Amino acid sequence: MSGVKAGEDMGSRRTSSSSSMSVTDTETTNKPAKKTPNDFIFGKAIGEGSFSTVYLAKEVGVDKEVAVKVLDKRHIIKERKNEYVMREREVLMKLNHPFFIQLFCTFQDTERLYFVLSYARGGELLHYLNKLSSFDVACTQFYAAEIVIALQHLRNLGIIHRDLKPENILLNDEMHIQITDFGSAKILKDSSPEENSKGGDGTPASGGRRNSFVGTAQYVSPEVLTSKKASFSSDLWALGCIIYQFLAGLPPFRGGHEYQIFQKITKLEYDFPEGFPDSATDLVERLLVIDETNRLGCPELGGFGPLKDHEFFKGINWDSLKDGPAPKMMPYLPATSHNPELWSSERVGFDDKRLVEIITDTVMTADERKKELERQATGNKYHQFVEGNLILKQGLIDKRKGLFARRRMLLLTEGPHLYYVDPANMVLKGQIPWSKELRPEAKNFKIFFVHTPNRTYYLEDPESRTEEWVRKIREVWRRYYSSDNKPVERP
Ligand code: ADE
Repeated sequence: MSGVKAGEDMGSRRTSSSSSMSVTDTETTNKPAKKTPNDFIFGKAIGEGSFSTVYLAKEVGVDKEVAVKVLDKRHIIKERKNEYVMREREVLMKLNHPFFIQLFCTFQDTERLYFVLSYARGGELLHYLNKLSSFDVACTQFYAAEIVIALQHLRNLGIIHRDLKPENILLNDEMHIQITDFGSAKILKDSSPEENSKGGDGTPASGGRRNSFVGTAQYVSPEVLTSKKASFSSDLWALGCIIYQFLAGLPPFRGGHEYQIFQKITKLEYDFPEGFPDSATDLVERLLVIDETNRLGCPELGGFGPLKDHEFFKGINWDSLKDGPAPKMMPYLPATSHNPELWSSERVGFDDKRLVEIITDTVMTADERKKELERQATGNKYHQFVEGNLILKQGLIDKRKGLFARRRMLLLTEGPHLYYVDPANMVLKGQIPWSKELRPEAKNFKIFFVHTPNRTYYLEDPESRTEEWVRKIREVWRRYYSSDNKPVERP
């Protein structure tokens, strides 16, 4: 590793936190202790990167969980990523704010580098976003505001993150943000804090630098794509993408290939789905601006003040944000013109008349089942997708992700499986993963949810027969996961 010889201590950092890591205790003697891997008890892996694995760990004799990022030296050297690793360490050492992962100390042995970091117990924000598909306005407002504060801190330190995305936003035990992964970050040595930066020194006030492409396709800014020049405003672009994704359920620039996504970004080709809130539309439109010197929050437009004053953040108390409670995470499910009462929180729409319409189940004999399977194999065009399983129920549904819906053929089969197929192109798109934890829930005639540990699926039945779906899925659940907990063998 350039700059760090094997066996040499990479150093410990001073920290103002009241951490019980002994590294902070030794600071009073001004002689940081050299750590070794033997000073830690390593637990499960909690994160995986291209050159690193993050483990939950405890320092021996210290009752505090930490996250230890372990990097493989040979792999880093082979991939020529030395600079990224050293940069990450340098940036983490500069940060001193609760909205960022904290670096306690670093050390190494002959094969590996070790970064001892604060443990973000809440995990990735992306996990919650995947589970709910979208966040409601209060939740979006809160997390967007915390990101704004974090970006302001970075701006004042002359740091561009360059890979801001929901995956890199971790949450502490009180569900406040802790931004991580500074491997792609850039430190602008000659930049001045926001208050002083007027851009009159010949350097663009946005702090531009020529760079190779870094980041993640969906969140990368047009200037990085066209001129390879990242600026502070590049993180503001990512913020616009993230706010859009929180509310809509998908990022604004989407495509099958990176190239398609890049084309859409450079042409500013995106739109807002129906139901996207007006003030959020205005904010996103002011952040997703091609000219990086014209993005709300950039130095040329007066910095973070005007961004924080935007109507979308009305009611946010910027000073007490970090000490206040985080809102309960809820999905954004507004009524649409297509379905006005669709997403009301009330359980509405059922009446006795509809309930008596629900057909009762018939139990098949083995012979009947065999005949039915043969009939499906020759006469049901969806049989090709279900791996030889008997289809127990099928029907067209609209599968929702945030504010977007797609028509799918839902196939409940033995196995059990819940396959979904794109009926227009006759392509299998995926499966809702079955487990004992799977739970269907009817919201009303048109809407039902399928809850799974990692995601809640929002499904709309245009035929308004959600109760039939829920009843049938429950029946299959009972068959496979009844009280003895053992999945039933396929007949
Ligand atoms: N995954 C990666 N880094 C982490 C951290 N510091 N805390 C929790 N999970 C993580």
